[in-house]
Amino acid sequence: MAKPRKIIIFDTTLRDGEQSPGASLNLREKVQIAKQLGRLRVDVIEAGFPIASPGDFEAVRAVASEVKKPVVAALARCSRKDIDRAAEALKPAGKPRIHVFLATSKIHRDYKLRMTSGEVLRRASSMVKYAKRYVDDVEFSPEDASRTEIEFLAKVVEAVIASGATTVNIPDTVGYSTPEEFAGVIRYLKENVSNIGEAVLSVHCHNDLGLAVANSLAAVVAGAEQVECTINGLGERAGNASLEEIVMALATRSDIFGFRTSVNTKQITRTSRLVSHLTGIVVQPNKAIVGENAFAHEAGIHQDGILKKRKTYEIMKPQDIGLGESRLVLGKHSGRHAFKERLKQMGYELKEAEVERAFGRFKELADKKKAVFDEDIGAIIEDEIYAGPEKYRLEYISISSGNRTVPTATVRLRCGDDILQDAACGDGPVDAALKTIDRITRVRGRLIDYSLRSVTGGKDAMGEVTVRINVGRECVTGRGSSTDIIEASAKAYLNGINKIVWRKKRSAGKKETPSL
Ligand code: KIV
Ligand code: ZN
Repeated sequence: MAKPRKIIIFDTTLRDGEQSPGASLNLREKVQIAKQLGRLRVDVIEAGFPIASPGDFEAVRAVASEVKKPVVAALARCSRKDIDRAAEALKPAGKPRIHVFLATSKIHRDYKLRMTSGEVLRRASSMVKYAKRYVDDVEFSPEDASRTEIEFLAKVVEAVIASGATTVNIPDTVGYSTPEEFAGVIRYLKENVSNIGEAVLSVHCHNDLGLAVANSLAAVVAGAEQVECTINGLGERAGNASLEEIVMALATRSDIFGFRTSVNTKQITRTSRLVSHLTGIVVQPNKAIVGENAFAHEAGIHQDGILKKRKTYEIMKPQDIGLGESRLVLGKHSGRHAFKERLKQMGYELKEAEVERAFGRFKELADKKKAVFDEDIGAIIEDEIYAGPEKYRLEYISISSGNRTVPTATVRLRCGDDILQDAACGDGPVDAALKTIDRITRVRGRLIDYSLRSVTGGKDAMGEVTVRINVGRECVTGRGSSTDIIEASAKAYLNGINKIVWRKKRSAGKKETPSL
């Protein structure tokens, strides 16, 4: 029997996914996600849009240096400056790809680009040729393809392939298409573009109508060979097609689709959790595949069925996506060696000094809490090691609060060699703590979202707080964890403030490279 055809999985979590409001990641977090995507065995990682900011440029360069198996792609508009920057960032890559895009629909041509169709056609071809001077692997995307006149779209696709594009990606940029219609676009291109066989045909669907996965799968059935998607369906506005849903649909219904991917599905849960932790974007509980309830059976009839025969109500095994592999690992008697081993097994690559710091936090936690789980260790690493450059660090916090007390906080922060201290009252203990931090740092953050979750089960569990803060026009996410939820709140807020301070410093042009 012939081997099923392989669908190329192109992950754009670090580019389109990072365009989710509030999902900004620092350099180290991006590299960490890219390495995990490597373990997940995606074929292509789109690491960023280098011209967009120095941070994006550095992130693409770091991913290109550190992740060697997948192709590393960088996005560029159809301009020489963008392409030069993308090529520069991709220099260390083993398998570099430049991804150029230009809008083709009439509405974009007339109002956004103010270009005629002839100009768009010429610009697309010439910029693909320009990108080919740097790399063999060039992808072209006609932005808003699904709303482009189909004959013109076919002309553009033919022209860019003739100019050397090795992949042509058809985006449903505004998530407007439907499965039937989108499959029709793919079929039309297959039948009407004379050189279509010379390039990989890809799709990139947004989820504005909740159809991104359905549209991508319909396109695959119609002949698309690459799917662009993101972990947890992150992305601009309502997000992109979710990688885990695409991959598990192809795997679970291989009887219908007859395709395979190279993804190691057992890494899906770990990847989803890492991305959720680092972006601060919580996965909805009923989200397919990776939501907390995706394998939970509530109804008595279902539970009864599951106990008698799992397949009565379960179409996938939780183990297939690596669920249920969290283990009780360590306790207060565990030593440095066991801790280091566990870190390695969890995929963390830390320097000696960082292991020491994390081990110190682990010991503190193990004193407070009997059992330390993988999730606790993950929270420690993200809190302690991946927090990004820290101008301010929490040294001490004391709260007095109660139903007949004015909530008051005393906070001590370290700022380089200085110790800064102040106190303030608030509506509640969290408000008091955050107001005190505002007084000390003189950064007045507006809290626009606050969420608290327990890292594991148990009354002694660590609480992890995620906040979204606005300062002027900047919006950042901050995270912090502790067995004391007021301390976790202060750490999360401070993490956000440190990001704002760091961004301001960068935009003021001061050179300071965050260490990897
Ligand atoms: O949605 C879109 O059109 C894009 C392109 C840059 C591929 O993200
Ligand atoms: Zn997109």
